Amino acid sequence: MNGSILAVSRRLLAGGLSQLLLSILLFSPFTATNAYEPTWESLDQRPLPQWYADAKIGIFIHWGVFSVPSYGTEWFWYNWQGTKKQEFIDFISKTEKPNFAYADFAHRFDATLYDPKYWAEIFAQSGAQYVVLTSKHHEGFCNWDSRDIGTTWNWNSMDVGPRRDLVGELANAIRDPSVVSPKTNRPVKFGVYHSLYEWFNPMMAYDKSTNLTSHTFVDSKTMPELYQLVEKYQPEIIWSDGDWGVNSNYWRAKEFLAWLATNSSVKDTVVWNDRWGDDAKCKYGSYWTCHDNYQPDHTVEHKWENCMTLDKTSWGWNRKAKYANYMTTKELVDEVVATVARNGNILINVGPAADGTISPIFVDRLLGLGQWLQVNGQAVYGSQPWKVCDQDEYIDVYYTRDNELLYAFLTKWPTDNEVPLMCPVVSENTRAFLLGVKNADKHSVEVVSSTSVGLRSSVEQAAVTIKLPNLNPDEVPCDHVWVIAMTAIRNLDDDAISDMKIS
Ligand SMILES: *[C@@H]1O[C@H](CO)[C@@H](O)[C@H](O)[C@H]1NC(C)=O
Ligand SMILES: *[C@@H]1O[C@H](CO)[C@@H](O)[C@H](O)[C@H]1NC(C)=O
Repeated sequence: MNGSILAVSRRLLAGGLSQLLLSILLFSPFTATNAYEPTWESLDQRPLPQWYADAKIGIFIHWGVFSVPSYGTEWFWYNWQGTKKQEFIDFISKTEKPNFAYADFAHRFDATLYDPKYWAEIFAQSGAQYVVLTSKHHEGFCNWDSRDIGTTWNWNSMDVGPRRDLVGELANAIRDPSVVSPKTNRPVKFGVYHSLYEWFNPMMAYDKSTNLTSHTFVDSKTMPELYQLVEKYQPEIIWSDGDWGVNSNYWRAKEFLAWLATNSSVKDTVVWNDRWGDDAKCKYGSYWTCHDNYQPDHTVEHKWENCMTLDKTSWGWNRKAKYANYMTTKELVDEVVATVARNGNILINVGPAADGTISPIFVDRLLGLGQWLQVNGQAVYGSQPWKVCDQDEYIDVYYTRDNELLYAFLTKWPTDNEVPLMCPVVSENTRAFLLGVKNADKHSVEVVSSTSVGLRSSVEQAAVTIKLPNLNPDEVPCDHVWVIAMTAIRNLDDDAISDMKIS
């Protein structure tokens, strides 16, 4: 803003009236190029790019040297040599030669079967609108061609291991014009995860020894990496992590974000999360992640994201995982619905193996979600939250809305096909239908207003009861969660939500 005002006054001094008019045209609110200051207050003024609010669903990928041991969790190195957990010490002594070093894993990170085109297809088919890959996890290994940053020497995917630019290849595959999300018909966006912190980096240890008055690690490693990632790959999501225990001033995070939002090639579309220091978490950022698996029980006005993982025990590939560690498709769909209904996006994690394969169990869950979204995506993408309603002892129902319709997500098929809804107030014009049902006339949804009929006493509180049609198994449009769309809801715009600014 200051930039535009300055520019206008400069033009006013330099030129005549036509110059001034031109300036007003050029710097009107519609064309203004905003200059952000490196303060949270200034960065907070930036509106959330609409694509992110509409997208709802993203894929998270944890892939790195930790995918080689693939034992327990991606925190393998830290468990072994940081907290020195006996189980991990034993694992190394059982499986490796004496004096084995974590760095020895790197050459086995071979990515021989890495097929970014296949990854991109699966992710698009899942219904995800964006993909976030670990460019560097806490182990410090860079998954891109970072060779010209001297401090990543011999610890990046070009120098050792894959000998491939893993980030660049996925970015290109995701952006291929053939990769389009089937339900929204939109291209899938590409983003990067990047850890500020590294467990064992001696430069970080040095900065700690100065009580973080020095910035050796930040200035010679993390920041060069972040600027390079943006300049080389134009990621539209910067998913920062590893900020813990440190203030954003140490990370020089606000300077980077001001540049990102003001001068970078992605300034108009990029979004970033809130993990930039203890002063930022759950407070600043295009969207908040607060903590892993963040899932508030109410609607949070500020845009937020639930990052979660299909292997409930690990983000990286984990050979120890039992079948029951994996979320079922039903659990995944339920989680998506609960998240979107509360104004969140969901970032669904998979952990590929070191050879670049993605376990079919992950693919199965992702494609299951994709099938469900193919039927019900209308109630998800671009929707807004409505309210979180208490259903008493009845099945959980979640809501979203668009400009005309209210969507009720039934997380169980009600016994005797009938379910009370506690919050929507219907009018005589209200019609309801089940998304995806064929032959909607025959299979109509009946809306029974509580004002027009006597209800069983136990459901007196319900504003409305809906009766689902009797369907044969092959007539049911989807599994897991069923969506009733309703027109002419009286309280669609009521105060409870019209007050709520969805940011
Ligand atoms: C860092 O802080 C600690 C505790 O406040 C203090 O004892 C120490 O002298 C400080 N070190 C430096 C290098 O400033
Ligand atoms: C953006 O670029 C301009 C022109 O080079 C420079 O004056 C300004 O300081 C930059 N702003 C940020 C936040 O990087």
